[in-house]
Amino acid sequence: MQEDITLITGANGEIGQALLRVLGADRVLALDLNPLDPALAGYYLEFIQGDILDRALLEQLGREFEIRRIYHLAAILSTKAESDPHLAHKVNVEGTMNLLNFGLAQSEHRRVQFLFPSSIAVYGLEAKEVQGPVGEDERLMPTTVYGAGKLYCERLGQHFAKQGSGLLDFRALRFPGLISAETLSAGGTTDYGPEMLHFAAAGRPYRCFVRPDTRLPFLVMPDAIRALQKLASATSLPRGAYNVTSFSPSAEELRQSVLEYFPSAEVSFEPDPDRQAMVDSWPARIDDSAARRDWGWSPEYDLQRAFAEYLVPAVSDRYLEESG
Ligand code: NAD
Ligand code: SER
Repeated sequence: MQEDITLITGANGEIGQALLRVLGADRVLALDLNPLDPALAGYYLEFIQGDILDRALLEQLGREFEIRRIYHLAAILSTKAESDPHLAHKVNVEGTMNLLNFGLAQSEHRRVQFLFPSSIAVYGLEAKEVQGPVGEDERLMPTTVYGAGKLYCERLGQHFAKQGSGLLDFRALRFPGLISAETLSAGGTTDYGPEMLHFAAAGRPYRCFVRPDTRLPFLVMPDAIRALQKLASATSLPRGAYNVTSFSPSAEELRQSVLEYFPSAEVSFEPDPDRQAMVDSWPARIDDSAARRDWGWSPEYDLQRAFAEYLVPAVSDRYLEESG
């Protein structure tokens, strides 16, 4: 039995890869349906290629490892979830239920922390009629399978935390769209933000699938990872789920930021009605004052600093290396 282990599901995803790089190797168990990027070798104790729907696999892991913390990141993101709701329900809801059962069994005799990345998709607005920042307890009327699943799993986690020994410590973080310079997401609906930047750096034209006036909250990946770690180390939390955010540009403002650094970038707007409708149901801004107050959250990167000090240097290096 290996003790004091952190389990990351969905470890090969965007957040998983970034988290692996900061957590270090010796006590981290990484799990993903797909093989792990070879560049991550050395950042984990063991990698298991497997499915969170495989309960026998989870039971076996429970016998081999004493898990103290679970970052449950494996999921189907929103655009893909809407195109395959059956798969989305299985992975996002039944998969999370499996992990919660696993966490509950592990927490029989010791505290186990369960970190769950939720989303702005838990909110449901009619065509963004609310322009002010939306707080955690407002507008909880998700319009998508993905968002409804996230909200349900937040509630499920809070319910599981009261079961058994009471030692399962469930904490949810509602992320806005995330932008990483190192990885490019797939299957999400906030993807136009990172895609616009990555395509410009790679010298490829980009057709943005939302209107120029579309506004959403975003966070860069280093801030998202800091938020997860800060939430994990917080003591006595009055809430089960917290918003975190930084900047809320329109798609046109994002294009202007991209053009500042890549003046020859070609970005056109060709809205996709289904993806536009999803984004229009999500808040333009969210209120993260509870996270600021309860556990000292604040982002390090606003829009200007994100582009100047993180996104542009790192994304330029990435495509320079690829072309060289
Ligand atoms: P991602 O799509 O990059 O990664 C998800 C990972 O889960 C993939 O590596 C995939 O192979 C794995 N996976 C999928 N089904 C699986 C299964 N059945 N068993 C095991 N592994 C499986 O997503 P991400 O951006 O890293 O997001 C991680 C979490 O954060 C998700 O829960 C997502 O909903 C949430 N989130 C992400 C964002 C964002 O903008 N990236 C915003 C809000 C919330
Ligand atoms: N970025 C995610 C998505 O678009 C939102 O949770 O699916």
